[in-house]
Amino acid sequence: MSGIARTNATGGEGMLPELLTWSTSLEHDRRMVREDLLGSAAHVTMLSRTKLVDVADARALRDALLAMYAAAEAGTLAIPDGEEDIHMAVEAELGRRLGAVAGRLHTARSRNDQVALDLRLHVRAEAAAALRRATELVAYLAQRANNELETLIPAYTHRQRAQPTSVGFLLCAWASSLYRAAETLGFALSRCDALPLGSGACSGSSLPIDRKLTSYLLGFSSPTINALDTVGDRDFALDWTWAGARVLLALSRLCTDVIDYSTSEFSYVKLDGRIAAGSSMMPQKKNPDIFELVRGQSGKGVGNVMAMLTLVKGLPSGYNRDLQEDRRPLLETGPLVRGALDAVGLALPHVHFDGVRGAAALTDGSTQATDLAEALVRRGIPFREAYKAVGALVRHAVDHNMPLAIVDPAIAATFHPALDAAALEALDPAAAMRAKGSIGGTSPAAVSEQIEVLSGAAERLAAIAANTPTLATLAARIAGEPLEPA
Ligand code: ARG
Repeated sequence: MSGIARTNATGGEGMLPELLTWSTSLEHDRRMVREDLLGSAAHVTMLSRTKLVDVADARALRDALLAMYAAAEAGTLAIPDGEEDIHMAVEAELGRRLGAVAGRLHTARSRNDQVALDLRLHVRAEAAAALRRATELVAYLAQRANNELETLIPAYTHRQRAQPTSVGFLLCAWASSLYRAAETLGFALSRCDALPLGSGACSGSSLPIDRKLTSYLLGFSSPTINALDTVGDRDFALDWTWAGARVLLALSRLCTDVIDYSTSEFSYVKLDGRIAAGSSMMPQKKNPDIFELVRGQSGKGVGNVMAMLTLVKGLPSGYNRDLQEDRRPLLETGPLVRGALDAVGLALPHVHFDGVRGAAALTDGSTQATDLAEALVRRGIPFREAYKAVGALVRHAVDHNMPLAIVDPAIAATFHPALDAAALEALDPAAAMRAKGSIGGTSPAAVSEQIEVLSGAAERLAAIAANTPTLATLAARIAGEPLEPA
């Protein structure tokens, strides 16, 4: 340990090595080294512009930090173990490279505002990456729906066949829930948009720092409002884990549909060999493992939200070391969400819908019972009366072991005079699917509208992701910024 964060007041010969090893966060926050380096490079630029560090020292510091950033990008930066966290490890490394001048970097700064900054930069990049993938998947589903406007498949309630729909309609259902999750990612992104740096340990600084300049350099709209709140605030992290869980839950539902529909019991989809797993024992198997893994991993996403909620619950104002425990759930969320979005994005083109099986599940006619009742309503019959008459007709068909679709109109008419041959045409599944033209319904025109709405929403959200500053953009901005005070 370099002893950077120890004084005589801290006392003794340093923390017991066993406890330092036990309490370090370096293992996790190493992954934020690039964020930490850019935060420091921006900070030292601000210190130079405000004359808190002279230009020559600031230049040496910034050049070294940006060189370390470039090395980190290239994967060649070595950060030795032995420090409590990445912030001290970077300062220690800077000391090895530059000597005493490294001691100027931490002016008007605490690790408490540094960690809040690094985490926000991390979450911002991860949320933007997840948002980009989520919008790509929404756009893919919407575009694929366009090719499946007439492909029949039953919709289910209570996992019982309910009503005739199209595969395009199902794809738009998946896209709609993923779109809402993507909006949550957009919200999480917006919650990262304030600069913590300059809050110090808990109450700001007596030195004439310029937080607005640092905000600009690091791509934030403004500094955070209150220093005490800022160092203990992990709301942005909660919002991120929540948004990540929402994406995973949307994917999990899609995956469950694919898993069920690929069984021989449903058989509405076929998985081609590129995404099917075999069994080590049963030669006939073609398993939907990829979709099961995404569904299984969604539990981790939910767990991470709970971990963050219970972590902040009961903490007092200000910084508390408990907050270091945010690292695992937070840093895990990005790869988890990106991985699941990538897996589903790669797998879906290998899921093939079987419209013949879908139509076959609807030929019995009972799934069109509501459409038959609505045909009577169209003739002025009260819905409840029509509903009861059709219910009685369905019962008759069941009792006679006969599909509703082939019931004789003369028999049907005994249940209600309006149940004639013309009304019974409502039992045709394709006609029933096409007839539901209400907004959000199954008709090809209604689904086309959904496709348009979803494609537009995906485009709008993709633009938010694309406009989120990347670390590379920030590095270039900071490197080009003058160090001389105005
Ligand atoms: N290692 C700490 C964390 O990652 C950094 C801040 C520590 N501050 C402190 N006063 N111990 O949360």
